[in-house]
Amino acid sequence: MKTYLVTGGAGFIGSNFILYMLDRYEDVTIVNVDKLTYAGNLENLRPVEGNPRHIFVQADICDKAAIEDLFRKYDFDYVINFAAESHVDRSISDPEIFVKTNVLGTVNLLNCAKQAWQTGDDAFKAGCKYLQVSTDEVYGSLGAEGFFMETTPLDPHSPYSSSKAAADLFVKAYADTYRFPVNITRCSNNYGPYQFPEKLIPLMINNALQRKELPVYGDGMQVRDWLYVEDHCKAIDMVAREGRLGEVYNVGGHNERPNLAIVKTILSYVKEHVDAGVGEELIRHVTDRKGHDRRYGIDPEKIRRELGWYPETDFETGIQKTIQWYLTNQEWMEHVTSGRYQEYYEKMYDSK
Ligand code: NAD
Ligand code: DAU
Repeated sequence: MKTYLVTGGAGFIGSNFILYMLDRYEDVTIVNVDKLTYAGNLENLRPVEGNPRHIFVQADICDKAAIEDLFRKYDFDYVINFAAESHVDRSISDPEIFVKTNVLGTVNLLNCAKQAWQTGDDAFKAGCKYLQVSTDEVYGSLGAEGFFMETTPLDPHSPYSSSKAAADLFVKAYADTYRFPVNITRCSNNYGPYQFPEKLIPLMINNALQRKELPVYGDGMQVRDWLYVEDHCKAIDMVAREGRLGEVYNVGGHNERPNLAIVKTILSYVKEHVDAGVGEELIRHVTDRKGHDRRYGIDPEKIRRELGWYPETDFETGIQKTIQWYLTNQEWMEHVTSGRYQEYYEKMYDSK
């Protein structure tokens, strides 16, 4: 039996990871620590409700006493740190919480894990590992050519990506200084079920289904490299189990598309399958994001060569599955777009 401490497991990727792992393995138990911010939603975990191999604990990763307590209670083999403030636009209007959660929270987890796993000078419990779920945004922005490699220098631009880069450097410092067993994964943009509708794809699906305007930042020609969330979960599982200690692994599927193309793909699917009255007249070009990164593109060669990882879901299949999921889970959408989030959403939307 392997015991995982998963943080941020009520969010988009964390919940997909928990569902993936519990479905795939009989010998995995997951303790899921989540603060349940606006982005955390226990409804995402409904399929594992009552499963004794999923234990939910509401706590802040910055809370030293709470995390130490968990390490006393459970004999963890892995820590997988998803917990973060994850939205670039929010980081531009309120950077401080990004430093608290993304940097200080990561350092607290590293400290608690190190303390619990240390068996001697530079020696740790056999097989244990801390995996930091990072992002391609730490590399900054690309021109028309080239890809992010693990050796690409860090050059973050937004408060969000700067906080993620700072966290990565602390993870590296623990490996370099204490020989602490770590990996870092840096993935491109994810899409799929349970993604909070402040992010491009679920926002556009939701708005299209409601015949609302689709706010495209600037000219809409910024490029992102989209990966179906389950393929990211598979990569994290493989890196945790087989990744070489101390290494960084980039994760992406060579699926670069401009934002405007994504929006048009969603519109044409909705028009054809759901509502013939929906069309491109819903697109509205709005003020660009400050410091907007122009292009991201991952070179996934290292994870393919070393671990045999490859993406299983192509974009055409993935986007259809995703739109279908939001269509059949409109109650989920209603719940997450009401309450505390609604206020923020209306404010952001009205200001565009
Ligand atoms: P998300 O915003 O959907 O979920 C974040 C989760 O963390 C939420 O459940 C939230 O309640 C929880 N959380 C926030 N602050 C916390 C705290 N202080 N203590 C405990 N829990 C806290 O984010 P996501 O899109 O699922 O991203 C997960 C991770 O993957 C993040 O670290 C992000 O940087 C990284 N990442 C995301 C993408 C993407 O495209 N979404 C791509 C690459 C990497
Ligand atoms: O690359 C990985 C990153 O992808 C993750 O680390 C982040 O956590 C995740 O939020 C995501 O960041 P982006 O900023 O790329 O994602 P977002 O969905 O916010 O925006 C995608 C692109 O779409 C970006 O170029 C901005 C644009 N956009 C976004 C929104 C919300 C619009 O044009 N209109 C919008 O309303």
